[in-house]
Amino acid sequence: MKDPLGFLRRCYARYGDVFTLREIGFGTEVMVSSPALLKELFTGPPEVLHAGEANERIFGSITGTQSSFILEEQAHLRRRRLLLPSFHGDRMHEYGDTMRRQTEKAVASWPLREEFALHPEMQSITLHVILHAVFGLGQAANDSTLEHLLTRTANEAVASMLLILPPLQRDLGRWSPWGRLLHLIHQMDEALLAEIARRRREGAKPEQRDILSLLLQARYENGEGLSDGELHDELVTLLMAGHETTGTSLTWAMECILSHPEVEQRLRAELDDVLGDEQLGHEHLTRLEYLDAVIKESIRYRPIMPTGGARLVKRPFSLGGYELPPGVWVINALSVVHHRSDLYPEPDVFRPERFLGRRVDPYEWTPFGGGVRRCLGMAFALYEMKVVLATVLRSARLELARSPVKARRRGFFIAPENGLPVRVLSRLRRAGDVPGTQEVATGGAPARSEDTMGWGA
Ligand code: HEM
Repeated sequence: MKDPLGFLRRCYARYGDVFTLREIGFGTEVMVSSPALLKELFTGPPEVLHAGEANERIFGSITGTQSSFILEEQAHLRRRRLLLPSFHGDRMHEYGDTMRRQTEKAVASWPLREEFALHPEMQSITLHVILHAVFGLGQAANDSTLEHLLTRTANEAVASMLLILPPLQRDLGRWSPWGRLLHLIHQMDEALLAEIARRRREGAKPEQRDILSLLLQARYENGEGLSDGELHDELVTLLMAGHETTGTSLTWAMECILSHPEVEQRLRAELDDVLGDEQLGHEHLTRLEYLDAVIKESIRYRPIMPTGGARLVKRPFSLGGYELPPGVWVINALSVVHHRSDLYPEPDVFRPERFLGRRVDPYEWTPFGGGVRRCLGMAFALYEMKVVLATVLRSARLELARSPVKARRRGFFIAPENGLPVRVLSRLRRAGDVPGTQEVATGGAPARSEDTMGWGA
């Protein structure tokens, strides 16, 4: 519980590519950390290897049981196909503008030269982005109760230690920790179902481009749509899966950048080169290759989860010559994979160049799991990380307030200790205000332009 990364790496050093853990409350877990075995795991038959049951045991009490996260086999594939258009590359253009604006707003509110924790700030950006992209919230006046409850659930439930401690999941009424969490989830459920009912009553509006609106209109091949319960579970899943993960990854990426001045310098040079005096837009993002490499390397170097992508064996399954009986969990030990010296020479060195000009092997770099269950929001998360990091770097200079930075458990996730304290050294005038990027010594919010050009919205 306390040092999952160190523990898994010590097990790997002692036992090799595959080893078994027997954990109280979690059963028998086979940890896998070689690309060849991960390929077998991720391409294994979905009727033999169930991913939904693995997800349900951690997040089922929040998401419900009718979402793509929890469904299995044909029902899962059918649902995934229905959701995919919302996560298609083209849709990212529409979310990009919100991502940039939310980041600019956050940076403008950061104090000059005073220490503050960056992690909650990044979480707040990703939360607002997801609330806007998924629910269309943040614009209409009647959102407040729903927004408040979704925000509280996202902040209080997803990172709760209780989720990974099944023996403590006892509902002893509203004053017990688990009972309180269930009560909050129940309140959120009611508000969300009321919103779904309202949207159904009012019908589709062309200006509503959020994922809820798309899913309300989505139809399976037989013409059937999603029921209220299915819609609810899918939306909660997107909120849960898409906010803490990306917010924590962004915080670690900033930690990597700020503790490597040569990397920051090269990133700033690339941004100046690609953007010049223009405002960040969709057309710039594919050209920010070094930023892309920094993101991939930070995800490798600083995993937000010790493992990711688990499967429950339903029928005898052979993996790398081992016969696994039903009831065993098989798990992608990604924090080990990403620190193997045969795949990543000098794995404890942060070196974005590893990812420059190279196609990523899906079984060597596995932060988003794999196969038919690979993270649905991968493109969304990587896009958001690019937009947020580019915007922060263009808007301010920051420094770490304390180093070295230690990793700490935050529920299921691994986050920087004390939320990563940082200081803003100076704000930078945004391109478009004046030719070139300039430092503003006395602070003041970066000027923002209201136009959405470049995002193709
Ligand atoms: C850096 C950010 C993120 C990381 C590291 C991450 C990681 C993961 C992992 C490890 C899985 C399990 C994959 C497997 O079982 O093989 C997963 C599944 C999933 N993620 Fe993400 N995720 C991130 C962001 C997001 C975002 C932004 C969204 C949505 C907006 C999202 C939605 C989902 C969904 C719906 C699934 C279930 C997919 C399925 O079972 O078919 N994730 N994610």
